[in-house]
Amino acid sequence: MTDKSLTLGDAFDACQDIELRFAKIYARLSLLLGGVDDRVARFWETMSTQEWQHYVLIEFGRGLCSTAFDLDMQIHDLPASGSISQIKDDLTKHEQRVAEMNVNLSDGFKITIEIEQSEADQLFMYLAKMTEKAIYQNNQTFLLNRLNRIQKEMQHHHETVIEAAKRLSNDPEIIRSAVSLSHH
Ligand SMILES: [Fe+2]
Ligand SMILES: [Fe+2]
Repeated sequence: MTDKSLTLGDAFDACQDIELRFAKIYARLSLLLGGVDDRVARFWETMSTQEWQHYVLIEFGRGLCSTAFDLDMQIHDLPASGSISQIKDDLTKHEQRVAEMNVNLSDGFKITIEIEQSEADQLFMYLAKMTEKAIYQNNQTFLLNRLNRIQKEMQHHHETVIEAAKRLSNDPEIIRSAVSLSHH
């Protein structure tokens, strides 16, 4: 899939695939690292649940966009289009890493921060914008509240990482890179 031939439907497919794989990585980290500390288990459980919510939002957006636009239309204004394959390559690397048993708390935070710094967010935000356009085009502005609520939850998602790093990690480098997510 090159960005030249990328369709709106492809962008939805890519985004949903990425969100689901994030959800699975966080579920795995909860299992691997949560054994001794319930707060650690709950942090990654929450992250996993939030990724699943992103998947659900994108499903909601796909439905609205399929009514308003043609999902086969090519898109050229996607900021992260060139990086979808990069995001997926990084994901494969993270999946291989969490498949091993010897992942410690610092590794878990590093993987999480790398995921949250990735350009997957740009793809997500692009589709949220398209969904907003579709809502106006379909004259369904009563749905805007739902979209806004989900976008607020997205910001809260990064705050979840920052709070957990401050509470659970004593590595200043990890805390610093987590805090940088607030500007992401
Ligand atoms: Fe996500
Ligand atoms: Fe995320």
